[in-house]
Amino acid sequence: MRERFIVEGLSGEHTLKGEIAVRGAKNAVLKILPASVLFEDEVPLENVPDIEDVKRMRELLEALKDDPTVLRKDIAEKFRASIVLAGPVLARRGRVEFPFPGGCVLGERSIDLFLNGFKAMGAEVEEDDGFFKIAVPGGKLHGAHIIFPLVSVTGTETLMMAAVLAEGETVLQNAAMEPEVAYLAEYLNASGAHIEGAGTPTVRIVGGGLLRAAGRPFVVPADRIEAGSFVILAALAGSDVHITHCNPAWLEVPLALLRQAGVHIETTPTSIRVRSSSAPYKMVSVRTHEYPGFPTDLQAPMAVFMSQCQGEGSILETIFDGRFRYVDDLVVMGADMAVMNPHRVFIRGPKALTRKNLESPDLRGGLAYLLAATVAKGTSSIDNAYLIDRGYEHIEERLRALGLTIRREESK
Ligand code: EPU
Repeated sequence: MRERFIVEGLSGEHTLKGEIAVRGAKNAVLKILPASVLFEDEVPLENVPDIEDVKRMRELLEALKDDPTVLRKDIAEKFRASIVLAGPVLARRGRVEFPFPGGCVLGERSIDLFLNGFKAMGAEVEEDDGFFKIAVPGGKLHGAHIIFPLVSVTGTETLMMAAVLAEGETVLQNAAMEPEVAYLAEYLNASGAHIEGAGTPTVRIVGGGLLRAAGRPFVVPADRIEAGSFVILAALAGSDVHITHCNPAWLEVPLALLRQAGVHIETTPTSIRVRSSSAPYKMVSVRTHEYPGFPTDLQAPMAVFMSQCQGEGSILETIFDGRFRYVDDLVVMGADMAVMNPHRVFIRGPKALTRKNLESPDLRGGLAYLLAATVAKGTSSIDNAYLIDRGYEHIEERLRALGLTIRREESK
């Protein structure tokens, strides 16, 4: 059943107020689920967000019970993170089959880094019409020295996990430094893995036997992108909003930029409070970057924020080449934005936004539409609620608690 959100806009008023708790991170839980294949016992999970991508990953794991080396095509094609499971399955079973992964359309999202990594560790790759069959002659991957030509979050995590069960030492260079990588490595180490340097550009893994959780839970860390999205929402439409159960230390660059724009932000080690400012904010410019830079996943929400700032600014998207699909509709709503090329958009503000019937282009673009609808004058609808549900748990219920009039209904 297709669903949509209906949002009554606040016409630029700052009335949202109260507390909102951040849920567990999508991009952390989507890695520990595949990592469970490296364990001889069960991995207890806590703080798991109730989101669509997690359901898909669970289904994919469940399907391994019928065929332990095949990632079911119809499920794996639905989301990009399905490829992460290929690493642990290959490492444990010596073979794996999977389709080219689906997911948010953010431009070209190739999987060469994964395939080259598997090959360097001794696997042979066969491709037939978008379906991959990978096997290790002899059954066991060996360690390798892998230099990533570009930084990949899931590439780093997948090869790190595969290396945990490989023979000998693996070194990953130019690895992703996202905090979820280090968080995962810590848990794997506590369960018997030998990983050094996770969270830095050079990760060393000495392979060994299956891991043991021995009842110790993996507590999914707070979703820094969700926390950042709520900070932006509060800056745009809040009077006094307290964002709890989060880790502001993982959001230093976005918080610094928002403060530079004039947003009043206070933090404790686990919460962020945003208080309203009446004057329009000062324009800032953004360049997305791998962690600890400005996260590409906050780029679309930030564009909505910038549409309400005074002056001229730009966004340079350096990670993906198709992440501005949300811009056209914001322009129809009244935003002054121009896409100069697939990596740069110019923004002038502040411009009042008016209602529109929207359709989420992808997860973060959908969230940006929710923000735009909140700021706008009049009632907007956002179709394809499913795409927002992929990463934000019951968003309408949680935003209602802050005073937003929002509901979910079946699409007409
Ligand atoms: N890339 C390649 N070849 C590969 C892998 C990646 O060319 O084999 C390119 C990508 O096309 C992209 C760049 O490398 O241009 C970086 O992509 P990366 O691999 O880091 O992205 P990802 O691991 O697929 C994760 C998050 C994304 C987030 C990016 C960047 C998960 C499940 N997904 O994706 O999250 O945008 O890192 O930080 O961890 C989201 O949550 O909305 C989302 C898209």
